[in-house]
Amino acid sequence: MSTGLRAAIIGTGGVSAIHLEGYRAAGVEVVALCDNNEAVLAARMSQWQVTRGTTDMHELFREGGFDLVSVAAPTAVHHPATLAAARAGVHVLVEKPVASSIALADEMIAACREAGVVLMVNHQLRSSGPVVKARQLIEAGAIGAITHVRLRQAHDWGGQQSVLPSFAARTSSGGGTLLDNGCHLADLAHCLGGEVASVYARLATRKFNIEVEDTAHASIEYAGGALGVIETAWTATGWEEGFWVYGTHGALESTNRTGPTALRHLFRSSPGGTWDATDVAEYRFTGASPHVRHVMAFVDAVRGRQPVACTGEQGREAVRLILAAYASAAANAPVRVEHVTA
Ligand SMILES: NC(=O)c1ccc[n+]([C@@H]2O[C@H](COP(=O)([O-])OP(=O)(O)OC[C@H]3O[C@@H](n4cnc5c(N)ncnc54)[C@H](O)[C@@H]3O)[C@@H](O)[C@H]2O)c1
Repeated sequence: MSTGLRAAIIGTGGVSAIHLEGYRAAGVEVVALCDNNEAVLAARMSQWQVTRGTTDMHELFREGGFDLVSVAAPTAVHHPATLAAARAGVHVLVEKPVASSIALADEMIAACREAGVVLMVNHQLRSSGPVVKARQLIEAGAIGAITHVRLRQAHDWGGQQSVLPSFAARTSSGGGTLLDNGCHLADLAHCLGGEVASVYARLATRKFNIEVEDTAHASIEYAGGALGVIETAWTATGWEEGFWVYGTHGALESTNRTGPTALRHLFRSSPGGTWDATDVAEYRFTGASPHVRHVMAFVDAVRGRQPVACTGEQGREAVRLILAAYASAAANAPVRVEHVTA
């Protein structure tokens, strides 16, 4: 059913397709596209049957005619596009990472607040069935006090022999797998376990001839004393994406290796269990993908039907944790997250 809302999409490469799918699922008409690559723009306009297109985002906003915009261009474009959207009074769903620095993220947050528009960050895992259910279980005390958290995103670019140029070049991406995959995990680290106090990270470039790291590990310590580990790689054959949260009275596990939409809750309430045999409650989730749910949540937030599912501030804290991890890797020492201010 149509909401009467209209959207535009800036950056019509790989990830933009899920923005289009999400808007159409939410009853929002995508009326304009913007990509500075003329060929990509023309192909998308034809594929998606969108008649309005421009290579210049400032022209897009000058002409207006839409209420929402997805910023799905490389990370360096997130800040100028969000500021332009705020000036035009347009609500923003910006891809992750929200920005490459705290200072830029703060400017984006302030601009949207002053303009009275929603700023939401596309950390879509917050809208996934397993994460929403895991949060409910943690808040209900189902696993007791959290002891440690394991967060993993490891892939190999589908077996391709090179990394997309916009991801490989530091000026465009801002960082490698630690930023690209790790910012989702940094957001999950907060969302599932609370405030992170410090991080100790190690980076490597092992497979691709690129400026940024393709393999990264980060050990985190929560403000409450629990531990965690973030593992990211562009060098891991296959694709595993998952989270594991351990508590004093149970554990939560979710990995695409056992199905993309499953959450397992392990606990011990039956007598006579063994080391490996615990009680297990399994949850399965159907319906739209996390990406589509997140875009639908953005539309709901704009309509005042639910709180913003991932605020600019939450996106900024994910960036702060990743920047602290980069500082740690450079210093080969633990870094307190609060010390990252720029
Ligand atoms: N949420 C997720 O899971 C997820 C997944 C993939 C990518 N991303 C993020 O989405 C963003 C884009 O990634 P992608 O994989 O789609 O990259 P991509 O390179 O496939 O597409 C980006 C597009 O933006 C266009 N572009 C570049 N500069 C522009 C400008 N100034 N104005 C308009 N268009 C411009 C490029 O021509 C390209 O077509 C990145 O920030 C990335 O981190 C998020």
